[in-house]
Amino acid sequence: MSDFKINMSDPSQVSNSLSSRSLRVCVIGIGRIGLPTALSFAKSGLQTIGVDINEDLIEKINSGIFPLKDEPGYEEIFNQVLSEKTFSATTKIEDAVPNSDLILLSLPTPMDENNVPDYSALTSVGTKLSEILSPNSLVIVESTIEPGFIENELISIISKTQRLKIENNFFIGVCPENANPGEILHDFTNLPRLVGGINDTVSKIIKMIYNFVFSVDLIEMPNCKTANAVKLTTNVFRDINIAFISELSLMFEKLGIDTFQVLEAAKKKYNFQIHYPGAGVGGPCLPINSYQLLNTARRTGVKLNIIESGRQINEKMPDHVIELTKNAFDESNINFENANILILGVSYKPNVKDIQLSPAKNIIEKFQNLHANVHIYDPFFPASTIFGIKVEDNFENIIPSLDAVIIVTAHDDFKKIPISSFSRMRHSILIDTRGIVDPQSAKNEKLIFRGLGRGE
Ligand SMILES: NC(=O)c1ccc[n+]([C@@H]2O[C@H](COP(=O)([O-])OP(=O)(O)OC[C@H]3O[C@@H](n4cnc5c(N)ncnc54)[C@H](O)[C@@H]3O)[C@@H](O)[C@H]2O)c1
Repeated sequence: MSDFKINMSDPSQVSNSLSSRSLRVCVIGIGRIGLPTALSFAKSGLQTIGVDINEDLIEKINSGIFPLKDEPGYEEIFNQVLSEKTFSATTKIEDAVPNSDLILLSLPTPMDENNVPDYSALTSVGTKLSEILSPNSLVIVESTIEPGFIENELISIISKTQRLKIENNFFIGVCPENANPGEILHDFTNLPRLVGGINDTVSKIIKMIYNFVFSVDLIEMPNCKTANAVKLTTNVFRDINIAFISELSLMFEKLGIDTFQVLEAAKKKYNFQIHYPGAGVGGPCLPINSYQLLNTARRTGVKLNIIESGRQINEKMPDHVIELTKNAFDESNINFENANILILGVSYKPNVKDIQLSPAKNIIEKFQNLHANVHIYDPFFPASTIFGIKVEDNFENIIPSLDAVIIVTAHDDFKKIPISSFSRMRHSILIDTRGIVDPQSAKNEKLIFRGLGRGE
């Protein structure tokens, strides 16, 4: 490895280091987003090291076991970069960072039980960087953060040992991640990315680097905080619109109007953007991103009423799932006590193995509080225990003992279940919270069917 230290604020040095593949990259946090990022950098021929505190993950990776089986396309890249030796992983941040020119932070930005954003992974790594970052390095934050976090917090953390001075011998920018789990390779190679830097030269350098690795459109924003504001605005827009349609669907149900028919027709209007009602909004992005903006609002003495209401509506949707089920139970003259209820899907979104903030958890707890026996079937979690419940290994086998099935996640596999399977239940109660069952075929099959947002 060369000892020559690239000055990451000098466009011609960066450009030369890209063409000679001598730029050394370190990705800190190699989870759902950071690992594919690191693999893409390595695939472009740049020597890349991934750093993570999760020792099991590092051991797995270094033994050649790809941990993200639900990310199409990346396993091949993983095998390729391991055999070409452009990628390796370590838990030792103090070895990796000083030998790198470019540091990407793909650290988690969750929230606590009171919905307060938690930036402790970024601030603790920032403190470490203040001690070990080599002069003239560039730090790019890919994590989702509130506008102003870089300018008001992270820069002073990294500069606190006085060894490093921003724009003098260390440089920082952002390139917020915007990929969808399950489609990361597609999104990384197609979706435009936002770029913000501490100054214009840094922004141009970040664009040059991402263009080299991903060759997608790079949207240059005037600074870091504006880039992060765009990222949050796009996600929170979705959280609010899902809340809007979900709330509307509660009224449409009462009016006997099928929300899905409304949406199919509404989307024909050029400026309508479709969002679907459902059992709630989970995952590592939308709920947290809304709370991040609400946190910014609190700090700045502003009230963001729409975001606040949107969150309340989305968080109440699991209650409506219970109401729909109760209504179907009343029709069948049965009660929840010891009823066998199967939750079909626990992931927060279709076709991924991810239960972060999944509404399934809330729904399950509510059924358990009503003394129902809750079972889970989710093909993304074979032989696992989720929310304290052992996941069923065979859907067809368990059907005859069931009183009700609640579709919580619209995995593609569930769309292929023949409607007749549900009539093999002890009581044929089917609750579809995701609009994947045609109400007419449920009726033809004589199921006791409730579809969220469907009306009669
Ligand atoms: N997953 C998504 O859908 C998605 C999409 C866009 C943006 N994001 C954002 O990307 C960022 C990363 O999210 P993710 O989903 O990849 O998270 P993740 O939890 O899958 O991965 C984060 C990784 O960082 C590691 N880590 C935690 N603290 C560390 C530390 N101090 N030092 C080194 N490693 C540490 C964890 O062990 C984990 O492997 C977040 O800000 C998230 O909001 C996520």
